[in-house]
Amino acid sequence: MHERFIFKILMLGDAGVGKTCLLQRFTNKRYTGYYKCTIGIEMMVRDIEISGCKVKLEIWDTAGEERYRSMMSSYYRQVDGIVLVFDLTRRLSYCHVDYWIEEIKKYASSDVSIILVGNKCDAFGDRQVHQQLAVMYADNLNIPYVEASAVSGYNVDRLFSKVSVNVFDQRINHMQLLELESIPRGIHLRDEKTLATNKLTTRLGGFCC
Ligand code: GTP
Repeated sequence: MHERFIFKILMLGDAGVGKTCLLQRFTNKRYTGYYKCTIGIEMMVRDIEISGCKVKLEIWDTAGEERYRSMMSSYYRQVDGIVLVFDLTRRLSYCHVDYWIEEIKKYASSDVSIILVGNKCDAFGDRQVHQQLAVMYADNLNIPYVEASAVSGYNVDRLFSKVSVNVFDQRINHMQLLELESIPRGIHLRDEKTLATNKLTTRLGGFCC
């Protein structure tokens, strides 16, 4: 199996919502539990497999603190997917999701795949955001919503795999379109062979591994 894809994913959300912890849980399978605010931006990598294709995820963990935000906007445009995190035990971080969505609209590509994540679902008694509210909000935006916990690991793999599969599907659709556009028009004897080959490649998937 050959590595064929590299996806860039950006973690966004207020300070302290658990972006770093989710990412560490996903890449190192561990939870440190202490809070060290991210300075600027840090990158972690994990390889996954989607439909038999090897995918390298480069995940950029951003600082949620306001003073770092202006430098973040330059990263938005380069990414394929965004994990937008809020803290289920802090209602204000949920209210700020609107702000993050506006930032994404302003700076990211219009076809970027977004997933909304309510983190810290292990803290049952402290919940301040009703699940149904967040589900409706995400439905309105037509993006998936997942509740997760970096402490227990609940849904952590699932959330990253969900956003990656969406990016993957989009990439494949895009490549298929390009492939179809490259099929020669007109009926020339010499072109028929190319046409047949292109059709075969499309039918077999043809783009990965
Ligand atoms: P910035 O780097 O400042 O943007 O913060 P961040 O969003 O990266 O938050 P971080 O991952 O550093 O976590 C902040 C605090 O939340 C830490 O004290 C963690 O222990 C705690 N925390 C993170 N994830 C969870 C979780 O799933 N459940 C609970 N109960 N606490 C969590």
